[in-house]
Formats: sequence, C-alpha cells, structure tokens
Amino acid sequence: MKQTSLEMQNTVYQRIAEYKQMVASDPYRLHYHLMPPIGLLNDPNGFVFFRGNYHIFYQWNPFETAHGAKFWGHYISNDLVHWQEAPIALAPDSWYDKNGCYSGSTVVHDDKMYVFYTGNVKNQYGERESYQCLAISEDGIIFEKMGPIIEVPEGYTAHFRDPKVFQQNDRWYMVLGAQTLEEKGEAVLYSSSNLLNWNFEGTIAGSEKNALGEFGYMWECPDFITLDGQDILLVCPQGLTQKGYDYQNIFQSGYFVGKAELNKATFRHGEFHELDHGFDFYAPQTTTDAKGRHLLFGWMGNAEEEGVIQPTVKYEWIHALTIPRKLTWQNGKLLQQPVEELRQLRTNELRYVNTDLSNMKLEGGEVFEMLLEVNQWKGKSFSMKIGNTTSISYDAITKTLTFERQSFHTNGKLEQRYCVLDSLQSFHIFKDTSSIEIFINHGERVLSSRVFDNLDNKEIIFHVDGMVEATISKWNLTRVTAY
Ligand code: FRU
Repeated sequence: MKQTSLEMQNTVYQRIAEYKQMVASDPYRLHYHLMPPIGLLNDPNGFVFFRGNYHIFYQWNPFETAHGAKFWGHYISNDLVHWQEAPIALAPDSWYDKNGCYSGSTVVHDDKMYVFYTGNVKNQYGERESYQCLAISEDGIIFEKMGPIIEVPEGYTAHFRDPKVFQQNDRWYMVLGAQTLEEKGEAVLYSSSNLLNWNFEGTIAGSEKNALGEFGYMWECPDFITLDGQDILLVCPQGLTQKGYDYQNIFQSGYFVGKAELNKATFRHGEFHELDHGFDFYAPQTTTDAKGRHLLFGWMGNAEEEGVIQPTVKYEWIHALTIPRKLTWQNGKLLQQPVEELRQLRTNELRYVNTDLSNMKLEGGEVFEMLLEVNQWKGKSFSMKIGNTTSISYDAITKTLTFERQSFHTNGKLEQRYCVLDSLQSFHIFKDTSSIEIFINHGERVLSSRVFDNLDNKEIIFHVDGMVEATISKWNLTRVTAY
C-alpha cells in the first residue's frame, strides 16, 4: 500500500508553475472546456458524483505534449461548469503502473471512492504488462493505492485495459477492453460481490461474438449503461476500415444497443452506431448523478496522425475534454444533449424569430452558443461559415451534412467529415476559441472537432440555395477556465 509519491507531484507542480504564463498566453486556450494545465490530456476517467460534487479525472502526461507514462489529473465541480483543479490523483510511481496509470472508472461504496484503473508496465524485455488496479479514497482527494486486483487471463494479450465498474441487482460488474491472442477486439465482463475479488465471466461482445464479423483488433474504453430499459455497450474499436461515411477517423467510438443478461455474461445486440461524426472524439465515459441523469464526457481528440502538430503544442499543452452531455433514449434513438447547467455561461442574447437565412451575417463567432430551429425549409442546401475556414452545410437532395475545417497539417488544406441526415430540424452549436460541438436534431447526431481558425475573423455567414426560415438564439459565453 502506497500513496502517490510526493516527489513526483512536486516535479509536476514546478513544471506547471514554470510554464503557466506561456500556456496562458495561447489565444487558442479554451474558455469553458477542461484542459490540462500543461502537457497532454486524453481520456476522461473516473467520472463520478460523490458527496454533492462531480469529479472528473483525466489521462495526463504533464511532462510532454505526447503520450507517455500517464497520471490521473483531477477536477471537481458542483455544477458541471465551474471546475476546481484538485491535486494529482494517481501518479505512475508503483511497480504495477510505472509506465502509466491508464484509464479506468470510479464507483462510490460505503461513502468512499473506489477507483479502478489499468497499471501499464513495460517489463525488462520491453514487453507490455497490464494490471487492473484499485485505489481507495475516503475524501475524494487523496487516493490510496491497493495494487493489482486482476491479471490478464489466458487467451488475451496484454492489451487488456480500461475497467468500467457499475452495479446491477446488488452485484458489481466490470467491463474491460481486450484483445484476444488472435488479435480480435472484445469487451469482457467480470463480477464481484465486494469490489475486491473479481470473477472472470466471459466475453459480452466482440469480433467473434453475435455474428459481428471482423470488428477491430482491439476494443478500448468500454462502458455499460441502461437507458429507459435499453442496455447499451459503449466501446472504442480500433482497426475498422472506412466504409462510405462510416469510420472516417483513425479510431472509432460508438455503441451497441440490446438486451444483456449479465449473470450469464450474454448481450444480444444490434449493429454498431458511431457516437460522434466530427474529427475529434474518443474514449467517452458516463456516470449517473443524484438527479438520475446519465452524463457523458469525451476526449475531444483522437490518435494523432503522423506529422500533424496542433498549434497549441507551441504553448506546451494539447487536447481537451468535450462539454458534459446528457444521454437519453427517445423514440428508439440515443440522444446526446449539452447539460442545462451550461446556460449559466450565456451573455448578450441575440434572437431572430422566423428569419430568412439567405445572406444573413452575424458577429461574434469566436466563443458562442447558438440554437437554430428550422421553421420552413424550401431549400436545396444551406451552409453556415464561421470565421475563415470552419463551415457546416446540409444538402437536402443528397441528405448529407458536411463539416469542414482547415487541417492542422502545414499544408492547411480544407478537410471534411460527413454524415447522413433525413432532415435538418435544428442545430445547437457550442463554439469555443479552438473547438466546436454541433448537436443536430436535438442530439440525434453530434460532431465534435477542434478548429484552429484565424481568430480575427469573427463573422458567421449563412448561404442558402432556395429558402430557409429559422429562429436563431445566440449567446456569447463567459470564460470560466482559470487560464
Ligand atoms: C484510449 C487509451 C486507453 C488507455 C489510455 C492510455 O485513448 O489508449 O485504452 O487506457 O488511452 O492513456
């Protein structure tokens, strides 16, 4: 039993202090999204509601803007909008996590936080080892490591990680992302009566299961929820080949809906749906709060393409989390919507009722929220350009929605993501200095992307082929991030 080493923490805090001004001077520093104080952030971890506060942890390499031996950074909030930075929760300072305290989850039991994470180890031969580990916190601030509780079972490679723990019918369950020795991705299930001793129950979904066919060489970051009687397995398969508008990013993030019998380790499910159609979304994690809401944070990033450098790297930081979203199941669909609490950020409301969008122009396109409800559509197509290069357009003939941004390559070419949409009823946009999240038709489709546009051009310009009438509400959003 060992506490996070103070020495390691001090080195991190010194580095934060040293670079604080430089990080703060980045014009692309976000105004209301969670970012690392320095270094690289990836997956949201351990999302939990504990004694009246939301806790979100994140994969963090404080030493570089690249992946490495991950820490768990930690933020706390009572309203999902104003976040306080908490001390480092986990540091890679033990033999079983020395190359990274990888992703995992938190549950509350006996008024304590139980944190499950993957200890990533490179052994003396350079081979990977994975240990599912437990850490316990009495106060939600200091975490005491209890060490490994699960080792990789037979039949799997060391790509065995990202425990997500939940409770059903008085039993604890854990889903884990796995790779079989045949290099097929799977989600496997464990169960426990006390959170300390775990039984391997089997595979609940995977390339070889339920006639899914070839479906990736590794599944990361699984999560399991029940929404309105529907069992939903969220998972991030790696190695899917792009098919038309499906799987446009390097790694995917999506879900299967079906019926699970966890006590028999079975899950009958339908096809895979992507959660997000933008460029930057991966490794989401959910929790439920005191209001019974299912909330989700995602990493607003994805694996880096070779040779692509995001502009924030010059300022010693990279990546952010999405805004928190609420998940609901309505009319046979999984909807994602921004949490209501974000309304606190609104200032300077502009409202246009039943306006013809042709050639409409608005100011204030840097950091804003916009709700656009289509009242009458007699158009062939519609587009909305924000700044110099970011745009969203919809073609009613091909039923295609296109999101376009300038790529981060030095060549600066425009690049696109597409999705199919039967009709366009509404847009709900959250734009920050260097990100955009677009919720379409009340959260039926979401597109999340980082955008690094010229910050001087703050115009929003609409173009319509035909006639589109809409009601628009737009707000500027207040800055809540400390720097
Ligand atoms: C997903 C992931 C996880 C792993 C973590 C390491 O982005 O690869 O599978 O636990 O990141 O930072």
